[in-house]
Amino acid sequence: MKITFYGHASLGLQIGDTNILVDPFISGNPKAAGIDIETLKADYILVTHAHQDHILDVEAIAKRTGAVIISNYEIVTYYGNLGFEGHPMNHGGQWDFEFGTIKYVNAIHTSSFPDGSYGGQPGGFIIEGEHKNVYIAGDTALTFDMKLIPLQTKLDLAILPIGDNFTMGVDDAILASDFVECEKVLGYHFDTFGYIEIDHEEAKRKFFEKGKDLMLLEIGESLEL
Ligand code: NI
Ligand code: MN
Repeated sequence: MKITFYGHASLGLQIGDTNILVDPFISGNPKAAGIDIETLKADYILVTHAHQDHILDVEAIAKRTGAVIISNYEIVTYYGNLGFEGHPMNHGGQWDFEFGTIKYVNAIHTSSFPDGSYGGQPGGFIIEGEHKNVYIAGDTALTFDMKLIPLQTKLDLAILPIGDNFTMGVDDAILASDFVECEKVLGYHFDTFGYIEIDHEEAKRKFFEKGKDLMLLEIGESLEL
């Protein structure tokens, strides 16, 4: 499984021949000016919740690629009404896709669309593909629900928000890493705007002191599991 960071909370996952985009907010992110959404491949677009900084490029990319939108029922219905194809899920639900398995799990956050319409309840995803398990937390607070994940899944990577203010910060993300029993963490949802700027070296040091590995990718950079 190849994972590419497209800035903020935007990710690309390549599982075999399948390309998955997560929370595409690229064209509105000056830091991601080097990424052209017209060139991104997508068979599926995963949406954790309806906030602008997670959905901005969903319509443009889905229109061009015909990607299937996977999210909660309300978000998929919203895009369905605009003519887009989707696969609705809800919390605790799991589905076997041709590339692997996705489970939609709890997040503590909110989920309104930019126009104020209801975006259901926010979530995260556990994705299993090519015998690797990844947790994409979405925008969330630290929550005891995370302790449920390792009861069923041995994670290879936890992708956690670390920017604070709107989500967990570094210290809570370290506890989240304990809760999900995964020492390998990719940080996201930081630096995009003023409220969530962080000190990279301090964040990495804090994880290191707890015996954990915090990875921070450059925008456009990938890692392989
Ligand atoms: Ni949000
Ligand atoms: Mn956000």
